[in-house]
Amino acid sequence: MLVVLKRDYEEVSRQAARLIASAVRRKPALTLGLATGGTMVGIYDQLVRLHKEEALDFSRVVTFNLDEYLGLAADHPQSFHHFMRENFFSRVNIDPRNVHIPDGTIRGNYDQYCAGYEEAIRQAGGIDLQLLGIGRNGHVGFNEPTSSIGSRTRLKVLTRETIEDNQKSFPSAGEGPRCAITMGIGTILEARRILLMATGASKAAAVAKSIEGPITSAVSASALQLHPDVTFLIDEQAASQLTQREYYRQVLEMTALLTPERLS
Ligand code: F6R
Repeated sequence: MLVVLKRDYEEVSRQAARLIASAVRRKPALTLGLATGGTMVGIYDQLVRLHKEEALDFSRVVTFNLDEYLGLAADHPQSFHHFMRENFFSRVNIDPRNVHIPDGTIRGNYDQYCAGYEEAIRQAGGIDLQLLGIGRNGHVGFNEPTSSIGSRTRLKVLTRETIEDNQKSFPSAGEGPRCAITMGIGTILEARRILLMATGASKAAAVAKSIEGPITSAVSASALQLHPDVTFLIDEQAASQLTQREYYRQVLEMTALLTPERLS
């Protein structure tokens, strides 16, 4: 687990975009796992900038989003389909046929639909690089606390805390969605490389538990400790409850010296 400490949101966004860009340049037909949420906005802005200024080419990239709210159609302004279109897909040269996001409008046969999503990931050769944010309760995707570490794509009931956090996105619509379709922790752990971004003080406790706490289904992101190639990219505020910050800085220095490819 590599912990990369950056000053602020801007630096985290730039570094994340740089890492993603070099993965795309190394493998133009990269299979990229994508996330939504406030943390991701700056990263997509940076990727759009690299597309425009440095001709970063997404034409062969295949994407799989982590999750979508149950009950929201793709054109709903609060859907993750809409978020992805507005923040990223409509601004780069991605082929719409290569884009996969769980369908929030399915009714019944959830298991069958979710097995199909897993199959599509397999058919695409598996996810090369998975981007993750983290919830205040340690969720990744919508794998709320007590999600099985072996869980696969499935229907998931959102916690009160997540519904409240999301409320800002559903200001006039009363209570937002209470369920989502999400990749499971087992699905996420099969990605070849994982990049988790966290910024701001509200994420500090979840980040510390995920990196330095025990592996537990009570904090879904702690399961990432089981993965051989995870990078946590976090700003000073999100890192503020980590006890080993000095060690992570030393590791970073040595990594830059000895295995710089891990940082690019
Ligand atoms: C979104 C997702 C969630 C978010 C997390 C953080 O696709 O999977 O796990 O990454 O809730 O959201 P923000 O960045 O809005 O704090």
